[in-house]
Amino acid sequence: MTLYMIGLGLNDEKDISLKGLEAVKECDYVFLEGYTSRLNVSLERLENFYGRAIVLADREMVENNSDQIINKAAASNVAFLVVGDIFSATTHIDLFLRAKEKGIQIEMIHNASILTAVGSVGLELYKYGKTTSMPFFEPSFEPETPYDVIKMNLKNGLHTLVLLDIKPDRFMSVNHALAQLLEIENRRKEKVISEKTGVIGCARLGSRNQLIKYGSVHELLDFDFGGPLHCLIIPGKLHFMEEEMLRFWEINQSD
Ligand SMILES: C[S@@+](CC[C@H](N)C(=O)[O-])C[C@H]1O[C@@H](n2cnc3c(N)ncnc32)[C@H](O)[C@@H]1O
Repeated sequence: MTLYMIGLGLNDEKDISLKGLEAVKECDYVFLEGYTSRLNVSLERLENFYGRAIVLADREMVENNSDQIINKAAASNVAFLVVGDIFSATTHIDLFLRAKEKGIQIEMIHNASILTAVGSVGLELYKYGKTTSMPFFEPSFEPETPYDVIKMNLKNGLHTLVLLDIKPDRFMSVNHALAQLLEIENRRKEKVISEKTGVIGCARLGSRNQLIKYGSVHELLDFDFGGPLHCLIIPGKLHFMEEEMLRFWEINQSD
């Protein structure tokens, strides 16, 4: 029997590939990894479209109790659905390795990821440095890693993709991420980012109402990007064609 690891793409139930859909329909159990990213549609809509009941797999189940998923694949076909692509950003290599250890057959079915969808902004994908994640600050938890990563990438002339935190009841906006970056800058004072820095905010990439805006931190701090999901890009050294592309997204330009 087979464990199918299937990417769902970025927006709605119809972004699954035909190969992915056929595989889901072959499966007796369907799990959806539901904590690292999300689609813009409800679980019910997915269930109706795929014709299968879906179990929402939380972090605890995937990272600490993956046997619940893997053991089923010993005797049945199991689908493990991941929003975006299966091994992008958050990797599910642990699940893969554990299933392999148990001699489970695995089939991987890929899809679009945020890591490639940012290509639509027009910055050369080959010129991104390390990707970083911005968590919600909490009392006594204000990690400065995103700041350090941006600093290192800028030093090397590279662009930085900043992925933003998701909690069960909220998601981080571009505005919130920028405010937190300025907070770190105020502490560190290493001139990595200021209100004048040009940055790109993206929302709902891959959907019909996706939004990309380029402007200074000051301009983007109050701009309303609308519903989830959002991410942020800090450009490094720009080629003239990248500059030309960014002009399309300038915040003070009418759409
Ligand atoms: C862990 S990553 C996504 C990993 C996923 N497996 C993939 O391949 O896209 C989740 C973060 O990426 C960003 N993101 C994901 N989808 C997005 C979208 N459609 N538009 C904008 N940002 C997105 C958000 O910052 C979100 O919190």
